[in-house]
Amino acid sequence: MPLPIIVGTDGSPEATSAVEWAADDAARRGLPLRFVSVVDHWAYGIPKFPATLADPLTVHAERALEAAEATARERRPEVEISKEIVEGIPARILRDRGREAEEIVLGSRGLGGFAGLVIGSVSTHVAGHAPCPVVVVRPGWRDAHARVVVGLDDSAECDPALGYAFEQARLRRATLRAVFAWQLPVHTLAPEIAYDISEVREARQRVVTRKLDTWRRLHPEVDVQEDLVYGHPVQALTEASGDADLLVVGSHGRGALGAAVLGSVGRAVLHHASCPVAIVRPRAV
Ligand SMILES: Nc1ncnc2c1ncn2[C@@H]1O[C@H](COP(=O)(O)OP(=O)(O)O)[C@@H](O)[C@H]1O
Ligand SMILES: [Mg+2]
Repeated sequence: MPLPIIVGTDGSPEATSAVEWAADDAARRGLPLRFVSVVDHWAYGIPKFPATLADPLTVHAERALEAAEATARERRPEVEISKEIVEGIPARILRDRGREAEEIVLGSRGLGGFAGLVIGSVSTHVAGHAPCPVVVVRPGWRDAHARVVVGLDDSAECDPALGYAFEQARLRRATLRAVFAWQLPVHTLAPEIAYDISEVREARQRVVTRKLDTWRRLHPEVDVQEDLVYGHPVQALTEASGDADLLVVGSHGRGALGAAVLGSVGRAVLHHASCPVAIVRPRAV
């Protein structure tokens, strides 16, 4: 049995966007969809409602799941759907569901949180900790560019992101733009060090080409644009997201202290990208 694509839904408009994106992805990849709504009684300071009452939170969750199913069925009738209500802490439950999912798809925001936030707490936590790829979707997304953007660096940590991005590009018949942003190190402490910028650039270019070659051989049908950008990765990727259908980044890059946290690039592009963002973490072995 293939693992499902799991969508967390709290009935918010943002979650509905996630349902739509996930329905398309499930159809594209031939995977089943599973809608999960987490009921958090503790949030109301009440450990448990009397079991006999169909409490309002559960009723809301049931409605959210039914609405999600209706949306997905109308959009992609061929996709197999299942639904589940779970009691617990949403971020924790959804993160743990990552062990049983091909990917998790979430809305950028939900029903709670502060109005000024761009990304909600559940999305932030799950994107940072789930063991599978996490896609965060904002309302208003659409596939209009036939382009997938992937951010890469010279670490092995970005290989899973490259694999995910090539697969998405192949299934979408989209161009894959591989962005490697680089900057000279800040050398205030050693200003006497001189760099030959074109030499550094060529070295960087070799890294990109070598890294992409492995994946090109696996997916020869994907049209790849190598894009070596001088600048900060967040700026380069945010700009590239402007005419992309999907932005794919690794969960952390070189210099990460631990694999368990979301790197600064991942965090920043979740906030600033103008298309859906997939955060791809190396699977724990
Ligand atoms: N209780 C929940 N059950 C299932 N999914 C949820 C739940 N709460 C949030 N989500 C998912 O996480 C997304 C982001 O919501 P969240 O991070 O809670 O934002 P906010 O802080 O604005 O409420 C939602 O669009 C939905 O996909
Ligand atoms: Mg919430």
